[in-house]
Amino acid sequence: MNNSLENLAEKTPLLGVNIDHVATLRQARGVDYPSPLAAMLVSEQAGADGITIHLREDRRHIQDADVYEIAKQVTTRLNLEMAATDEMLAIACEVQPFWVCLVPEKRAELTTEGGLDVAGQVKWLADYINKLQAAGIKVSLFIDPTETQINAAVACKADAIELHTGAYAEKGLADDSNGQNAELSRIKHAVSYAQQADSQLLINAGHGLTRDNVKAIAQIAGIYELNIGHALIADAVFVGLAQAIADMKAAMQ
Ligand code: PXP
Repeated sequence: MNNSLENLAEKTPLLGVNIDHVATLRQARGVDYPSPLAAMLVSEQAGADGITIHLREDRRHIQDADVYEIAKQVTTRLNLEMAATDEMLAIACEVQPFWVCLVPEKRAELTTEGGLDVAGQVKWLADYINKLQAAGIKVSLFIDPTETQINAAVACKADAIELHTGAYAEKGLADDSNGQNAELSRIKHAVSYAQQADSQLLINAGHGLTRDNVKAIAQIAGIYELNIGHALIADAVFVGLAQAIADMKAAMQ
């Protein structure tokens, strides 16, 4: 496992590959393939800078056994996305991922809708984050790109934030270029606001990023890492996972 946080000054953000949807495909049939572990190995060989998996409360894609196997074999950095629950805290402390990214979770949602309301639960979250950090795990908070949530993340002493790019992506899908530009400006403002609020805070971004919309986000100076899943696995259906990752990295340049 690579434990340093080098590349901070690099222009192009790192690429964290989210392999949840390999597990989605497996769970659709209730068999043991395709294997998220194999996807991790291919992703790392293809140049992924980190591997993200989301252990959801309902276990709809990634299973507990996946988390343990992947954590054992990861050679980059594992980012475990999870809800801030007691059950997940216990698993994270046992698995010891490099990162935990705290996300909001609703059972009925198709994917993570909206960021975590950090501002509404600063004291409680600060305590939760402290327990993870005491176990040697760095903590990121998945938040909407607003000053309020950034201030709250800083107050909680998070190591990183991940700015939710879902609204930016959705405006693009709706061919609303004005709306998309407005969302892009919101994200750019959030990045510079966060840099000023806490110069040690790492700033990541993700959700809904594709080869078509990633470049404008990747060009924002100060973003450390992009986490991308669905579009990569969708592309992989046609070109293979390694090529999909190479294509995404090229699109980020
Ligand atoms: N970041 C976070 C916190 C997420 O919850 C997700 C979705 O699992 C992603 C990034 C990746 O989003 P997508 O699958 O749309 O690329």
